[in-house]
Amino acid sequence: MRSVDNEFMVLQRLLMKQALPGFRDLYPNSCAIRNYLFQNFRQATSSFGFEEFDGPLLEPLDLFVEKSGEEIVSQLFSFSDRGGRAVALRPELTPTLARMVAARAATLKRPIRWCNVGEHFRYERPQKGRLRSFWQMNADLLGGSDVASDAEIITLLVSVFRQVGLGADDFVVRISDRQIWMDFFGKFGLPVEQMPAALGIIDKFERDDSQESKKKLEELCPNLATELFAAINDLRQCRTLEDIKNVSGKQNLCRMADWEKFLQLLNDLQVTPFIQIDLSIVRGLAYYTGFVFEAFERSGQSRALAGGGRYDDLLEKLHKVSMPACGFAIGDVTLGLLLQEKQLIPQYNGAPRLFVIFSDETQKVALPLCQNLRNRGISLCYDFDRKLSFSKQLREANRSKAAFALFIGTDEVASGKFTLKDLSSGDAQILADHELFAALS
Ligand code: HAM
Repeated sequence: MRSVDNEFMVLQRLLMKQALPGFRDLYPNSCAIRNYLFQNFRQATSSFGFEEFDGPLLEPLDLFVEKSGEEIVSQLFSFSDRGGRAVALRPELTPTLARMVAARAATLKRPIRWCNVGEHFRYERPQKGRLRSFWQMNADLLGGSDVASDAEIITLLVSVFRQVGLGADDFVVRISDRQIWMDFFGKFGLPVEQMPAALGIIDKFERDDSQESKKKLEELCPNLATELFAAINDLRQCRTLEDIKNVSGKQNLCRMADWEKFLQLLNDLQVTPFIQIDLSIVRGLAYYTGFVFEAFERSGQSRALAGGGRYDDLLEKLHKVSMPACGFAIGDVTLGLLLQEKQLIPQYNGAPRLFVIFSDETQKVALPLCQNLRNRGISLCYDFDRKLSFSKQLREANRSKAAFALFIGTDEVASGKFTLKDLSSGDAQILADHELFAALS
């Protein structure tokens, strides 16, 4: 056989045995970790009055090309479907959310508090904390233009992290403001159309070396690059409101009043220990217009745990509906890694509550009893293909890690009383069928 064919077969075998790069096979214990995150997210969002919604995994390509920004567009899983439509697997949820809200804007009661747990796809280089398929937990608050919405959404983000046991020593939400950056570039005479490119330079400022950043600034503002570079460095280093006031020359007083109110609200909502002003954050997505934020592990070692911000123009631009909005998304990969590292994931227990042991002769009594218990919410298993002796069924019960075993032999059926054994203590109780549910609950 030709070596090309050989290589092809090796590749094919590999592909069949392993998930694609950046995709995960989630075995039950990994799936349980992810579900634990989802369950806590849902608890936190519902305590803030959020409702869950969902949209399609596959969307028209244009939805993201128009609104998500260059970086995400370069990472799209996109293709032509059989009808010749240009489509993409969703890399994020916000454009879909904007479309759905805009379509019902006249009838939806504001403020709109919506959340979602869903899978997303980005063709990134797989690395620690970054995959090609990942899950996000999104929460968005639409209809409020006041900083009270931003404060509420950041408080919710903090609450999700606290709900899974993380404290102020474990994570920090770094908060910044695109309006300040846009004012800043405006003062340097940069036209509005060039703002996305300017914000893109700030977004990559830390990653790029200074020569690269200067080169990009040179292309943007040929005569001011050196001055801009120094001024950007000053603004990026702001960590308090006073720093911002000093560096920006107190010119934007109106914005400073917003900041003061915002910080006061965050203080009243008891989240001050979890936040940090950090003007080096501008976010990679194109649609943000105001406060933006990213959450990180406190030491700043790993990739972002979450990101979000205000996007007041997205619905207007996409659908001619005026609706201010803000929100965030938490990724399951980085948060899962952090919780594992901090040993904050509860021990996985996929065991049933009960293992039922019976014989062919007692099956007619045992199976309806099992169904009644299952219908009332008791998880239970038994040797359904009836291959095991009584003693082997007991061994199987122990191996299943069930809390209890229930014996239904001919004597039990005749007496109408069953033996319920606690498999960890070995204690047994003799119970009538109507007493079983209470004993197992
Ligand atoms: P984002 O910052 O692009 O924001 O993503 C939010 C989070 O999703 C990230 O902080 C990260 O935890 C996770 N994430 C992103 N890409 C990957 C990846 N390749 N692998 C693993 N995790 C990843 C948004 O998506 C905005 N739509 C959030 C938002 C909602 N803004 C307003 N509302």
